[in-house]
Amino acid sequence: MDPSLALQELEKTGSDGLTGHELIDLKVTGGLTYNDFLILPGYINFPADNVSLETKVTRNITLKTPLISSPMDTVTEAEMAITMALLGGMGILHNNCTPDEQAAMVRKVKTFENGFITDPVVLSAKHKISDVLAIKNKLGFAGIPITDSGLPGGKLIGIVTNRDIGFCEDESAELETVMTREVVTARHGITLAEANRILRESKKGKLPLVDAEGNLVSLVARSDLLKNRDYPWASKHPMTKQLLVGAAVGTRAADRDRLAKLVDAGLDVVVIDSSQGNSSFQIDMIKHIKETYGTKVDILAGNVVTRNQAANLIAAGADGLRIGMGSGSICITQEVMAVGRPQGTAVFQVSQFARKFGIPTVADGGIGNVGHIAKALALGSSCVMMGSLLAGTSEAPGEYFFLDGKRLKKYRGMGSLDAMERNDSDNSGSQARYFSESDKVKVAQGVTGAVVDKGSIKQFIPYLITGLQHSLQDMGVPSLPELWTLVNDGTVRFERRSAAAQLEGGVHDLFSFEKRLYK
Ligand code: IMP
Repeated sequence: MDPSLALQELEKTGSDGLTGHELIDLKVTGGLTYNDFLILPGYINFPADNVSLETKVTRNITLKTPLISSPMDTVTEAEMAITMALLGGMGILHNNCTPDEQAAMVRKVKTFENGFITDPVVLSAKHKISDVLAIKNKLGFAGIPITDSGLPGGKLIGIVTNRDIGFCEDESAELETVMTREVVTARHGITLAEANRILRESKKGKLPLVDAEGNLVSLVARSDLLKNRDYPWASKHPMTKQLLVGAAVGTRAADRDRLAKLVDAGLDVVVIDSSQGNSSFQIDMIKHIKETYGTKVDILAGNVVTRNQAANLIAAGADGLRIGMGSGSICITQEVMAVGRPQGTAVFQVSQFARKFGIPTVADGGIGNVGHIAKALALGSSCVMMGSLLAGTSEAPGEYFFLDGKRLKKYRGMGSLDAMERNDSDNSGSQARYFSESDKVKVAQGVTGAVVDKGSIKQFIPYLITGLQHSLQDMGVPSLPELWTLVNDGTVRFERRSAAAQLEGGVHDLFSFEKRLYK
């Protein structure tokens, strides 16, 4: 055949592979998940770093990357939420704590300014040198502002640094006898670049920022400035420029009070946390939130895995849907309840349905590598939510420990008995996700385990982002909206893979190997 007729021949015989609808053909294959299929390569005519990953997590919240951290007490507290938002994603704060503790976490994210310490360690003039030494031992620094009240927000009256206490032999001496009273300060509201310049010119280690009345608002540390970098993709509220944050709540009466505190602290997205979201309790909660807060917070409802469940929550007013039942790495829901759905099928069915109403979806659970993220997005989800992939990073709560020579962090299901034991008295924490008040026997839906140290998400998330950009480039797709259009019109093609094909797709036939993922 004449080679110049190759394209015509292709047109006549049709493209390789299957459309998304043919792939997720329930009558042929039953439920599928990420490892059951691959995406066929497309045509590349753009560089990978041109691929846009901009997406929505809910109707009104747009992010530069589709990456969300899970509301679990071994994954997302303030530090994870701050760093996820800085890197272009978003963190959802867990609710296995008191409402006040959760609201304090929201506030910490909302008041975070890159490079500015908004909750500095502060002492009063009546504290002793021994107090400074204790802080230095525990936290590693000794530059401490002194306020009249001994608290942040008090009037700044001095500062104590290493130099002030270095030659003092009497550790019981009060700080007013040694502190420096002439403090170089700047007004709250200056930019980080200005703060940097003042620190450089004054040759000081710490720059307290004060309001018009001289009250201490925050602090800039020279040592931090050297480490700081720009976060051009940071997820920020378009008006306030504060970092975006979500938080989980349940559907009980006490959760309404909890939510009031979270909204007061500046919450952007409320995640109604239920393993089976299709309930009158959740629908009542959605209606309550819409009536009380209007457009002040967006609602990520769920979890759902079927179109029927999705329809109820969309009709009730959900701004986004969280998809997954039984797919989480720590999850035993399918084993115990016999209810759930393979995640690939769930993501495709719910996302295709929700898209008709402009409702974004979040594929939650079962994300074990970059390829899974790419597949979840290709099946129609707008974002992915990750637990195990982010547990074990330095931003996840908990201390590292060693076992068999490996550095590990604890990771546990919120439906594990272990997580249930840490519960607040109003019983509106994670227990509410999995148990009814009337339950006499608690049936666990999750396990407790450990994951290996992954370092900081400041390196790990950029690896996920770059990997994802390369994946979309291989598909021949420059952005997520185009991916969804091209899957829908059958241009992006899929193929199922047999068990043998899955083995072939992994590393095989080696005596030994080392799997390093990024540099
Ligand atoms: P992973 O990313 O595969 O580790 O899954 C994390 C997801 O599992 C979370 O976002 C929750 O939806 C879900 N999950 C968390 N705890 C439990 C549990 O105890 N049982 C079942 N599912 C859980």
